[in-house]
Amino acid sequence: MCGIVGYIGDSNATDIIIDGLKRLEYRGYDSSGIALNIKDKGIQVRKKKGRIQNLEDLIAQENLYSNVGIGHTRWATHGEPSDANAHPHTDMSGKIAVVHNGIIENYLTLKEWLINEHGVVFKSETDTEVIAHLVGVFYDGDIEKAVGKAVEKMQGAYGIGVICADEPGKMVAVRKDSPLIVGLGQGCNFIASDIPALLKHVRQIYLIENNETVILTANDVKIYNADHKPVKRDVFNVTWDADAAEKEGYDHFMLKEIHEQPDGVRDTLVRRMDENGEIVLDGINMTKEEIESFNKVYIVACGTAYHAGLIGKFAIEKLANVSVEVDVASEFRYRDPFIDDKTLFIAISQSGETLDTLEALREAKAKGARVLSVVNVVGSSVARESDDVFYTWAGPEIAVASTKAYTTQLVCMYMIGLYMGRKKGTLSDELYKKYIDELLAVPEKIKEVLKQEKKIKKLAKKLYKREQVFFIGRGVDSAVSYEASLKLKEISYINSFAIAAGELKHGTIALIEQDTLVIALASQDRLFDKMLSNIQEVKARGAYVVGVAKENNTSIEQQAEDVIYIPECMDEVTPIVSVVPLQILAYYIAKQRGCDIDKPKNLAKSVTVE
Ligand code: F6R
Repeated sequence: MCGIVGYIGDSNATDIIIDGLKRLEYRGYDSSGIALNIKDKGIQVRKKKGRIQNLEDLIAQENLYSNVGIGHTRWATHGEPSDANAHPHTDMSGKIAVVHNGIIENYLTLKEWLINEHGVVFKSETDTEVIAHLVGVFYDGDIEKAVGKAVEKMQGAYGIGVICADEPGKMVAVRKDSPLIVGLGQGCNFIASDIPALLKHVRQIYLIENNETVILTANDVKIYNADHKPVKRDVFNVTWDADAAEKEGYDHFMLKEIHEQPDGVRDTLVRRMDENGEIVLDGINMTKEEIESFNKVYIVACGTAYHAGLIGKFAIEKLANVSVEVDVASEFRYRDPFIDDKTLFIAISQSGETLDTLEALREAKAKGARVLSVVNVVGSSVARESDDVFYTWAGPEIAVASTKAYTTQLVCMYMIGLYMGRKKGTLSDELYKKYIDELLAVPEKIKEVLKQEKKIKKLAKKLYKREQVFFIGRGVDSAVSYEASLKLKEISYINSFAIAAGELKHGTIALIEQDTLVIALASQDRLFDKMLSNIQEVKARGAYVVGVAKENNTSIEQQAEDVIYIPECMDEVTPIVSVVPLQILAYYIAKQRGCDIDKPKNLAKSVTVE
């Protein structure tokens, strides 16, 4: 998740690119940069850590006039946020500049090859710099050909924009698994990762497909497929306004982010697996002996991230055969927990800046624990202060209510369990493969759930006037109940409460009366009958029950007034799927109630106070 903008025409590229980058700041904002091809000066690159304002301040005193340029706003994956790691990157000659969105999976192999065979000296820690040098070593007067040769060597996902000092009237762009569009102007053309960057200037767009290369001049755009055959593309006329375009047509960032979950889950998973299906966690450097030495794991986090930790307990205990405790960071800090150098401490945080989590981490570190963090924001405080970091590649999460960060955190929990179990040898090949296959199938299953959006919206219309809701579940479903309940209460302000279903009868059932809404998660095959009994208990007190179950367990219809079905999957991995319909339900209930969904009252995205 980064943003790209490029311009070629007869106006000042700098202003157009900076304006476009600002409109893409929601895609990434740890650093930004611009490369311009300036007459008599060649490629000029300016880049700066932090918000785009910092880049603007940097170039404010300069007269950087050019008719062609590329710009980038970054969301770090490889390398911390810094001036050096910001894009664009250049080759050794400084004549070729590249911006890149995505991840080059074989960048280490390519980097070694460039160093050993071509004496390349790298200036940053990024995978993107590899692309600039590849194009540089292949360049012999034809930028189009050089980019083609570079792309042949690259594995991974990329949307790239390239300019070359010696060919000032040309820009080359390529796409594979990362968004890329072309904007068609009068006497000028544009590239961008997303539509909002261009809406001020153009409404006619080419949507570039995978493995296509685009050659742009001020007056012409040519698209070629992977076999270098010209492609004819229909023009897409954008009718959205700028605000809707930022949300890619969704009414709220939350809904957009709910829909981004299949990609987020897939990216977090697939990019950590080699061709043999083995998990490769490049940010974790634990030996077999170190993993075997841990006699306890603590998972500590806040809010939604804490709920991911509850699932982490199930996953890591089962897969890595070690005892796991989960705690909310604000409590952990003040109860003098028993921790020593045989403890693995796992901090989970989307922002990486949550003060309670950060302080808990410091406390654990001071007592000798090994600290592993699961974080979405690269270079954040939690990441920097940890011994090992496992990034959730969810991309920037804008809505205050966390959705895609949660599901990617869940994926990380399973992967950590599998990684530890594999290293320790406590996990059979068969079970390992079963988990991997099940996890790989999750993105498609989430897509199946997303297809039910209309049905869930209808259900929301039926339920939105309720002022009290109970969520119940067993096993991993109880942990998902907590998350589903939090989602509903924080955006709809309905008084919502979650409890392990078996615990109801020990007190809370006193609150169930005629027509009380109970949302019962019954996704676990092995606990299904037990859940039916719990549903009967609340029904006997007059509750109105909405059930969530796997599609084969239709007998729930005899008990529940409404049922949301999820696709069949192994009990253990259901949380990544079953939470999705409940996020959608919370969203539409809040929408019906007219709430400010992306910015709920009293809440902030990053809680940096105690
Ligand atoms: C709820 C939500 C919060 C956060 C919590 C921790 O939707 O987003 O509960 O999960 O404030 O934040 P991070 O993950 O940034 O540490």
